[in-house]
Amino acid sequence: MKKVAILTNGGDAPGLNAVIRAIVKTARTNGVECYGFIEGYKGLLENNYVKLDLASNASGLLHKGGTIIGTSNSTNVFNYKVVNEDGSVEYKDLSDKCVENIKNAGFDCVFALGGDGTQKSSRDFSLKGVNFIGVPKTIDNDVAHTDMTFGYNTAVSVATEAIDRLHTTAESHHRVMVLEVMGRYAGWIALESAIAGGADVALIPEIPYDINKVVEKINERRSRGKEFTIVVVSEGAMPKDGEMVVKMNLNDGSGLDNIRLGGIGDKVANDIERLTGMVSRSTVLGYVQRGGTPSAFDRVLSTKYGTKAMELAMEGIFNVLVTYKDGKMGYVTLEDVVGNNKVVGAASGNTKESNIRKVELNDDLVRVARDLGMCLGD
Ligand code: F6P
Repeated sequence: MKKVAILTNGGDAPGLNAVIRAIVKTARTNGVECYGFIEGYKGLLENNYVKLDLASNASGLLHKGGTIIGTSNSTNVFNYKVVNEDGSVEYKDLSDKCVENIKNAGFDCVFALGGDGTQKSSRDFSLKGVNFIGVPKTIDNDVAHTDMTFGYNTAVSVATEAIDRLHTTAESHHRVMVLEVMGRYAGWIALESAIAGGADVALIPEIPYDINKVVEKINERRSRGKEFTIVVVSEGAMPKDGEMVVKMNLNDGSGLDNIRLGGIGDKVANDIERLTGMVSRSTVLGYVQRGGTPSAFDRVLSTKYGTKAMELAMEGIFNVLVTYKDGKMGYVTLEDVVGNNKVVGAASGNTKESNIRKVELNDDLVRVARDLGMCLGD
């Protein structure tokens, strides 16, 4: 092990730089040179990389949000969108060019920091004979086989603070305040922040909701003299007889999440106002959830992930995802992460059908919410 490269792919998440730092430091401890591809798989395709050096660009990173090497969430090199001069669009498998770039540069291993879509591509590259080690990044906390992705804890903290602040207006104005949070097809951020912030209702994609149950909860609170209600809605939540609310359908090719979610918060607030007569307002928390400095917990978790990733490389254990399970660092094969979504390239990850970890109905968080009397819309 002499030379390794890191890439950060997909949406940014707090802790990316802390993982980079941990890999670079552990590499130094082991006498290994470290490089970073610029903007994820795009940099790999364009052979665009920089040396990561503790004397210059790779120090002072622990608390910094974003990623110093950039990221991209619209690049699937196995099905790459090429716009020809005449404006026509073609999709090409350019993965061999990436493999060539890795081999020519002499990288013994590539660390891919990303969510399920990124790890699906890592698995596909591993089938082409290059060494990949995945590190599970996403605020959504939905990567299979790991109890917690880095970035999630910070996102929950930001959402919790938002709930605390919304309480002020809710109580003062006697309103229903609806907070829409991220999470894509998993309700982890919504459920955990609802518990941390003391919300009264949490609507998550895993439990299609009945708006009448939400109304019942609001009315029950009013009968106890509580003239306000806090509702947390996951962006992927849907009514039991309806669909997810899609803000925009993108056309970036298969293997990418072409659906931009958003708008369910407004729908829920409007329905509540119509059915209860109470003034209801919605707030979309958006990108502040994944920006800025990571929490202390995420800094430590990211550091554990980064050091473990480099340790695995030193042990010659490749084509795995670093995991955090029952409080211990470990790994599973990328094949396991991909699950049944096996088709290389075109039918890639990061889609609704991906092998993602969702909230299960027997999860402790669901039990806690129910014990507290929180309405989950069912
Ligand atoms: O996966 C992380 C995430 O922030 C989701 O919670 C959200 O749905 C999505 O990314 C937004 O992605 P984009 O950066 O493409 O708007």
